[in-house]
Amino acid sequence: MKILVIGSGGREHAIVRRLAQDSPAPALHAAPGNPGIAALATCHDVALGDLDGLVALAGDLAPDLVVIGPEAPLVAGLGDALREKGHAVFGPSAAAARLEGSKSWAKEVMASAGVPTARSVTIRDAEELPSGLEITNPLGDVPYVVKADGLAAGKGVVVTSDRAAALAHGEACLAEGGSVVLEEYLDGPEVSLFCVCDGTRAVPLAPAQDFKRALDGDEGPNTGGMGAYSPLPWAPEGLADEVVRTVAEPTLADLARRGAPFSGLLYCGLALTSRGMRVVEFNARFGDPETQVVLERLASPLGELLGAAARGDLSAVPAPTWSDDAAVAVIVASAGYPASSRTGDPISGIEAAEADGAHVIHAGTALDADGRLVSAGGRVLAVVGRGADLATAREVASAAADAVVLEGSHHRTDIARDAAEGSLSATVEGAAS
Ligand code: AMP
Ligand code: GLY
Repeated sequence: MKILVIGSGGREHAIVRRLAQDSPAPALHAAPGNPGIAALATCHDVALGDLDGLVALAGDLAPDLVVIGPEAPLVAGLGDALREKGHAVFGPSAAAARLEGSKSWAKEVMASAGVPTARSVTIRDAEELPSGLEITNPLGDVPYVVKADGLAAGKGVVVTSDRAAALAHGEACLAEGGSVVLEEYLDGPEVSLFCVCDGTRAVPLAPAQDFKRALDGDEGPNTGGMGAYSPLPWAPEGLADEVVRTVAEPTLADLARRGAPFSGLLYCGLALTSRGMRVVEFNARFGDPETQVVLERLASPLGELLGAAARGDLSAVPAPTWSDDAAVAVIVASAGYPASSRTGDPISGIEAAEADGAHVIHAGTALDADGRLVSAGGRVLAVVGRGADLATAREVASAAADAVVLEGSHHRTDIARDAAEGSLSATVEGAAS
């Protein structure tokens, strides 16, 4: 079995790492990969934006499976281009990846599929912003939620009680030429539930929770994700099945009806509000850093599961099985992230970080001209701790994050803390118990 993984971040390192643990281990290739991936796979220097180059690479390698990690090549049609050449691809077509590429279209799909989500309005003209905010937050008593409609690496969303800041973000998005989605505010804890899909069937993976805000206590701006953990001891039993039944399956049916069947990873970002479960967002690929903890707990083979989805026949493989262990990932981010990110700083302490059982996933790293490991992005590393329970996994991950040396870097210290302490709960009407 030969597998080509497209991407260069922490998600792809985690995917490659887990594929390497399958038995028998597949031959692994990555494009473009990163220094962490290079320890496990043959990396090919083809840029993510070079769709022709990636298709040519797949032609040369003739892999049994291509796994596309990031959203940008999916939205740009890499899945379609590879399928046209006869490759088995894990990752949706451009038409189906629009679920992530356009928040307003995702809202349309959710409405026609009857999927529970926040009330919203789409705005194309700055003059309509004030009246739009009246619709989504008529009393002005809860935060305003303002989203850039297109891809924004997790940073296009502003949730704020400051009406002027909400208007300013909306105006800034419109000035860039896009449209804006205004939404009703959803309270309650968030859950990321990944469903492996083959066009018609959805197989849920273990739920995880992501920490979107930059700073401890959920302060600071939204980021791509600063940490994650799994399992979620506080989540309602039966949540995954409920999401498959009320969210994933109706969405798959609706997309198929539109001629855009979804084959790949349907990421259901959910809020467990006091009024029931609601979809916050869909993504068309594995989440980062949730993948780092979800795949850490996957006990059954990954290659077989993704391969079956790519071939359109998930019924051919048994349901995934899970370790009872807990996993916690903490992102080490570069100075200034998410507003900016400083690159080129030397990274050390990885061996020390891994000495006590954690492992270090490379998210934004590179080798400089002298072969030294340096930072190359906002989210630089994900340190992953594993243990019999969340408290243990948290200790392992925290010690590892402290051991990493990267000038100016920052990381959250409260990832999974409330869950480990048992102080989180969700009271969701409608979730099966
Ligand atoms: P998105 O890119 O749509 O996932 O939004 C990023 C983050 O913003 C989410 O994970 C939530 O933390 C927050 N967010 C998005 N939409 C809402 C909403 N309607 N109500 C409350 N928070 C939201
Ligand atoms: N961690 C959030 C995302 O991958 O979009």
